[in-house]
Amino acid sequence: MAESNTDTKSSNQMWGGRFASGPDAIMEEINASIGFDKKLFAQDIRGSVAHATMLAHQGIISSDDKDKIVHGLNTILSEIESGNFEFSRRLEDIHMNIEARLATLIGPAAGRLHTARSRNDQVALDFRLWVKEELQKTERMLTGLIAAFLDRAEEHAESVMPGFTHLQTAQPVTFGHHCMAYVEMFGRDRSRVRHAIEHLDESPIGAAALAGTGYPIDRHMTAKALGFREPTRNSIDTVSDRDFAIEFLSIAAIAGMHLSRLAEEIVIWSTPQFGFVRLSDAFSTGSSIMPQKKNPDAAELVRAKTGRINGSLIALLTIMKGLPLAYSKDMQEDKEQVFDAAESLELAIAAMTGMVRDMTVNTARMKAAAGSGFSTATDLADWLVREAGLPFRDAHHVTGRAVALAESKGCDLAELSLSDLQAIHSAITDKVYDVLTVEASVASRKSFGGTAPSEVRKQISFWRARN
Ligand code: ARG
Repeated sequence: MAESNTDTKSSNQMWGGRFASGPDAIMEEINASIGFDKKLFAQDIRGSVAHATMLAHQGIISSDDKDKIVHGLNTILSEIESGNFEFSRRLEDIHMNIEARLATLIGPAAGRLHTARSRNDQVALDFRLWVKEELQKTERMLTGLIAAFLDRAEEHAESVMPGFTHLQTAQPVTFGHHCMAYVEMFGRDRSRVRHAIEHLDESPIGAAALAGTGYPIDRHMTAKALGFREPTRNSIDTVSDRDFAIEFLSIAAIAGMHLSRLAEEIVIWSTPQFGFVRLSDAFSTGSSIMPQKKNPDAAELVRAKTGRINGSLIALLTIMKGLPLAYSKDMQEDKEQVFDAAESLELAIAAMTGMVRDMTVNTARMKAAAGSGFSTATDLADWLVREAGLPFRDAHHVTGRAVALAESKGCDLAELSLSDLQAIHSAITDKVYDVLTVEASVASRKSFGGTAPSEVRKQISFWRARN
């Protein structure tokens, strides 16, 4: 799609009535949004077709003019789609580029399209339609990511790994349970997306410049034609808020934060030191100097994309925070933030879905790590409470002495002899060894939402039914 900037200085054909001369070159440059808002061409044309159809239905324009307008708009749509449309910066934005081309194609009837509307409600409409479609796409992509995690969780419902707090080995968990933690996070992100779709599902067109219009328009008709639940209820709010875009960015930032934590875990897990997972060749890169290396670049970039998304959110919040009602041109700066964040989020979700599906899980490494670091110490304390009737605080103290002894002997808790353990507390019997293995530890944690394989399977079927 070419952009021409060769037009001579003349007053604007859309609003030039009271202007003697055209804009300064710098004015044109700072004012123009066509470089980025041409992305809204399909939404703009869809909105104009619905608007013209409603105007004719209400007897505001003739049906002959409506037919010419709709035909012309469809021609423009195929011109743009096939790359045969010349965008002009002198015509500022997508709305005026399309309207000017319509005038060339169909003559004076084109001038009737802008009856009972303004670019203020037009841009609010186009942008809402775009964000709505993007949210729907995000919803589908999150569903794909959740499905990838459900498959891995099912496969690894019994695989033990260390659970961490402070990135120090805490208690054994199952890898399936860890995967399901991400299912919960991305499930909440997806429900935030669904709520955002509900919030923005109101049609702005017909709010006109800010005050509504004296023409007998039917805003319910255009709302329905454009797939919105209903028209917006306040024309000033309609043209002056961009909270739907900010809501998209907030959701993207939260989902980005989740994706980034996952990326960070993958970076750590794929180091030779951890060796918990091996990324597929498809999602890693080599080093040009160190032949042995396999780098988790995709995960690192997912982690970094989150920074861009956060930047977009803060940028738009800052752009909007000082604006008096209703429209101000500042609001034109909303689109690039949203377009950039949407591209980053899509890429991040797609890359993560691929990595999660493709990575090889090293269950032997995970299991070995799960048993190190006295990870079943809590199980020993719980056993003393349950079987020997000790108060938990005393059991904690006794266990601490057992850990110190094992540490001094350079062995695991399960490797201490019964006489060693009985020297620490006489109530200990050989039954204690049943809880000191990592498998016994995870199997015992059957509390609702706990890490026992039986619980993890319940969580998986809960989510399968909702995905
Ligand atoms: N390009 C403009 C934008 O993105 C369209 C709305 C222009 N409205 C106006 N009153 N100048 O916001």
